[in-house]
Amino acid sequence: MGDTRAVLDSEEYPNSEVQKSRVLTLEEWQEKWVNHKIGFHQEQGHQLLKKYLDTFLKGEKALRVFFPLCGKAVEMKWFADRGHSVVGVEISELGIREFFMEQNLSYSEEPIMEIPGAKIFKSSSGNISLYCCNLFDLPRANIGKFDRIWDRGALVAVNPDDRKRYSEVMLSLTRPGFQYLLSVFSYDPTKHAGPPFYVTDGEVEKLFGSVCSIQCLEKVDIFEEKHKSWGIDQIIERLYLFTEK
Ligand SMILES: C[S@@+](CC[C@H](N)C(=O)[O-])C[C@H]1O[C@@H](n2cnc3c(N)ncnc32)[C@H](O)[C@@H]1O
Repeated sequence: MGDTRAVLDSEEYPNSEVQKSRVLTLEEWQEKWVNHKIGFHQEQGHQLLKKYLDTFLKGEKALRVFFPLCGKAVEMKWFADRGHSVVGVEISELGIREFFMEQNLSYSEEPIMEIPGAKIFKSSSGNISLYCCNLFDLPRANIGKFDRIWDRGALVAVNPDDRKRYSEVMLSLTRPGFQYLLSVFSYDPTKHAGPPFYVTDGEVEKLFGSVCSIQCLEKVDIFEEKHKSWGIDQIIERLYLFTEK
């Protein structure tokens, strides 16, 4: 236990490169939805977002909020219910349909002209729009800029080799005065192959630090029973707030 605690204190695992060549295809993600292998979904929403929601919103009204790799995150409804407009992107059409059904929201769907085969799903109230396509194709659809980004289960789900490209897309979507909340995990990557993938503090800095001021708001021990099946015995979640430099 002594050694383990030492690692926990430093919160950086030396073998961060071990997952570098891991690749999950879009088809594999879609299969997870079909087979209900969506252990990442939180029915009660994300507790740290709940805690920091007011800080994140800063009392501002009618914000545009982006959810990369949104799944059926219930937090999208939290923002919409407060009068903000939510845009998400998710490759699984099933996930998107489940979101609207579970939140009792009627919706319409139409093709996205700029991205062959892709669709947009819009709540009838008009304040939630979910793009069903690859995140990396999304810039072609000119979705505008955002005041807030909630990045949970997103950077950590992107294939490690695509992180730079991912951060470039994210930063291209920010509007002056933006705030960006990012959740990442720290665990021994030699024991669990991911996703979620392990993202170091240094990598967060490397990806976003030239454009954003970065503040680590929380480091929380989130270890629970299900993590034992990952072969790990500790996992820390870190929550960062990025603001304009
Ligand atoms: C770990 S889950 C997180 C979902 C959600 N953010 C949450 O907190 O519950 C990652 C999601 O991203 C989707 N996904 C993975 N790669 C994607 C990509 N390149 N473009 C769009 N969606 C993607 C997956 O289908 C999956 O639903």
